[in-house]
Amino acid sequence: MAESMLGWKRTHRCTELSIKNAGEEVTVMGWVQKQRNKGGIIFVDLRDRSGILQVIFEESDCGAGSFAKAEKMRSEFVIAVVGKVEKRSGAVNENLATGEIEIRAKQARILSESETPPFPVEADSKTKEELRLKYRYLDLRRPDIQQKMMLRSKIVSKMRDFMAEEGFLEIETPVLCKSTPEGARDYLVPSRVHPGNFYALPQSPQLYKQLLMCSGYDRYFQIAKCFRDEDLRADRQPEFTQADMELSFVDVEDVIEVNERLIQYICKEAIGLEVSLPLPRMTWKEAMERFGSDKPDTRFGMELVNVSDVVAGCGFGVFSAALENGGSVRGINVKGQAAMPRKKIDALVDFAKGYGAKGLAYLSVQEDGTYKSSFAKFMTPEQLTMLADKMNGEKGDLLLFAADKNDIVYNVLGALRVELGKQLGLIDESIFHFLWVVEFPLLEWSEEENRFMAKHHPFTMPMEEDWGYIDSDPGRVRAKAYDIVLNGVELGGGSVRIHQNDIQEKMFEVLGFTKEKAWEQFGFLLNAFQYGVPPHAGLAYGLDRFVMLLVHADNIREVIAFPKIKDASCLMTQAPGSVDDKQLAELQIAVAKQEHAEAEEKGE
Ligand code: AMO
Ligand code: AMP
Repeated sequence: MAESMLGWKRTHRCTELSIKNAGEEVTVMGWVQKQRNKGGIIFVDLRDRSGILQVIFEESDCGAGSFAKAEKMRSEFVIAVVGKVEKRSGAVNENLATGEIEIRAKQARILSESETPPFPVEADSKTKEELRLKYRYLDLRRPDIQQKMMLRSKIVSKMRDFMAEEGFLEIETPVLCKSTPEGARDYLVPSRVHPGNFYALPQSPQLYKQLLMCSGYDRYFQIAKCFRDEDLRADRQPEFTQADMELSFVDVEDVIEVNERLIQYICKEAIGLEVSLPLPRMTWKEAMERFGSDKPDTRFGMELVNVSDVVAGCGFGVFSAALENGGSVRGINVKGQAAMPRKKIDALVDFAKGYGAKGLAYLSVQEDGTYKSSFAKFMTPEQLTMLADKMNGEKGDLLLFAADKNDIVYNVLGALRVELGKQLGLIDESIFHFLWVVEFPLLEWSEEENRFMAKHHPFTMPMEEDWGYIDSDPGRVRAKAYDIVLNGVELGGGSVRIHQNDIQEKMFEVLGFTKEKAWEQFGFLLNAFQYGVPPHAGLAYGLDRFVMLLVHADNIREVIAFPKIKDASCLMTQAPGSVDDKQLAELQIAVAKQEHAEAEEKGE
């Protein structure tokens, strides 16, 4: 029954037609959204990616053959219609772009039929995500998702325009790379030709883009697929896309300047948002102290307050122990929430524990001016008042405190602040707050590895004024690294790179690499740097995140055509899957787990 295109040519997408086309004969093609048979008249809502158009079939216009086809049409059939554009005979549908018109069918074809879909193809259907992802190709037909995908495409094409205009060359870098440490876990690809050897999929094009600077390409840009085998969250996928760039003969200010204009341009072109420049900036230290986060959501207040000096010497062991151990006591003021029920506070304590807190102390300022607190008995009334004053605590406020090592206190209160901001509706979702976070620490102590690790990556340039501390106090050295943050999400990040051999060698030494090991891992880069390397710097955006925020999606999956779920699998293709023994044999790979599972199956 499925007919072909033979001789027919689509003249318009659905919503390209309007009352201006009245009287014209057109050919439209698409999916049946809905068919309504009113006896002698059949209405079909025709859908394509542009929107919906009403087609009207009457036997006197279209003949018995086409009318019979219209009778058969069901949701998601693919059809073609030749007909005349007319002013709508019935009431104008204000909800449709094409609500003033309809197509009076002269002839129709059914190009293919459809089974009844497992869920209706319409915006915001309440279908479970699991089912939607299993039938992603149907889910992708939904107009709200199509809008997002179209906007994504527009953002990418506008980005390309801007970058080309600014003298960036788009250059592709390999996907089969060499595994290098110091990042997330790699995805590995076994080599058939070199048994026992593996490629790694790129976590980012970092080293290649630096090599391109060595090669004199001056300004590079790429929309690059990146792969990281890490735990997934709402804003993380195992494969994601970076809008990646690198520039030669520049310093921090140059990178920020061109990127601010890029952001302004994209926001204007994609969603009509006016972004005024320059964007605000904050040092990493200030961001941590005020917001407990290196990606602060600055759309609301509830900033952290350091109360260490006020509680020093108080009788509350939790506080004094934290201070004695070199930590701090900090709090947030949850305005007007003094009456928060105990159960809710307990839930916040549990939440805080999930972020590493041992507990969460609270003090609420009652309407009569007295205090209710988990630690009042350990403090004098004067100490309590001083503490409340330091927190700007007024009648009706709930004050929450965490005492621990600084990084834990920041982590806990930073997360709690965002959680409460959401719970209490303090965030204006309609605004966009961009923020540069600058002067990140160069290094980060890893308890796990018992050594310093690069906070950004090992090629990040230290700030000249701090380099003197690299031996005496490495943790104090700041880097020429910057992140661009939007509404509490890390949109992108980058740095100025080290281009001097002595600094790079020192960096490797501090990171615990021997010279041999550094050359083994990064020899191609270090070698390249011996043949004339320009000072260079770059930045990469998480493109999926950028789109997610601009379209107000809650989850990165909504702006990726074929996303993976939390366990990194694809519900539609069932990837990852097992492979033939023959394929494994070619790769000289034996799968230990599979043998184990087989043994189990046999009851061994
Ligand atoms: P970084 O590791 O900060 O920097 O990555 C850049 C941006 O990529 C996005 N991103 C992700 N998006 C989705 N899923 C993920 N799993 C994921 N991981 C990262 C974030 C992040 O800001 N080579 C450096 C850049 C540079 O220095 O030029 C890099 O990759 O939005
Ligand atoms: P405890 O002495 O463990 O019963 O704790 C007394 C109070 O202090 C309780 O309300 C705990 O939730 C809180 N608390 C415990 N550890 C911490 C901490 N590290 N920071 C803030 N409050 C804490």
